[in-house]
Amino acid sequence: MIIAANFKTNHTRASTRAYIEKLNTFVTKTNSSDSVLVFPPSSALDSFDLEDNLEVGVQNAYPVEKGSFTGEIGLEQIEEFNLQTILIGHSERRHVLGESQDEVAKKYDFFKAKNFKIVYCIGEPKEVREEGIEAVIAYNFAQLEGIDIDYENLIIAYEPVWAIGTGLTATNEQIEETLALLKQKLKAPLLYGGSVKVANTKEILEIPNCEGVLVGTASWDVDAFSEMVEIAAKL
Ligand code: PGA
Repeated sequence: MIIAANFKTNHTRASTRAYIEKLNTFVTKTNSSDSVLVFPPSSALDSFDLEDNLEVGVQNAYPVEKGSFTGEIGLEQIEEFNLQTILIGHSERRHVLGESQDEVAKKYDFFKAKNFKIVYCIGEPKEVREEGIEAVIAYNFAQLEGIDIDYENLIIAYEPVWAIGTGLTATNEQIEETLALLKQKLKAPLLYGGSVKVANTKEILEIPNCEGVLVGTASWDVDAFSEMVEIAAKL
């Protein structure tokens, strides 16, 4: 399984280090063999001495080695820390920061060519969910346009926009139905994200075709996130 923490615009450099060191100790102690990923803000990227199954990734980067892209980081800044994992297509980048499918696909191609592990996010807004499952699947598939879905280091996170940071989780039936339909086209492991918390981690991880979770808000507390890692380890 894959248990991932997305800090978004939370945590400092100091608190990220303390969090990751505590989490690493926990992963060692529980003997977890699941893949655990942490995406801190780019100001907190660093080199960490970690268990093989605990990895730090970047939440976003510009698809360039280096250059003149004010406010962005590129490959050179990531490689300083030997990081090889990136989140691409998160709904906040698409819907809040206006990243187009074309831009998302360019990022994907660039980091795929560098052999990065890519956690690629898709998910429909509320009005599409209200139209029914066919519209949901069409919307999610459109977010795969221009993406090599057979890339071996691809992980897909299905995160309905209306469930992100809202406290509203999709029902288990909605998650199961959506993942089953996505799985017809996708070989990559599928994660669910959207208001995952300690209390619902187990039931979500038990849904068929669900191979992990991408957690925002509830992951910012290292003890809560560690509990989720432990829940996964026991399944
Ligand atoms: P959330 O965020 O857990 O706060 O809903 C999930 C995500 O954005 O990846």
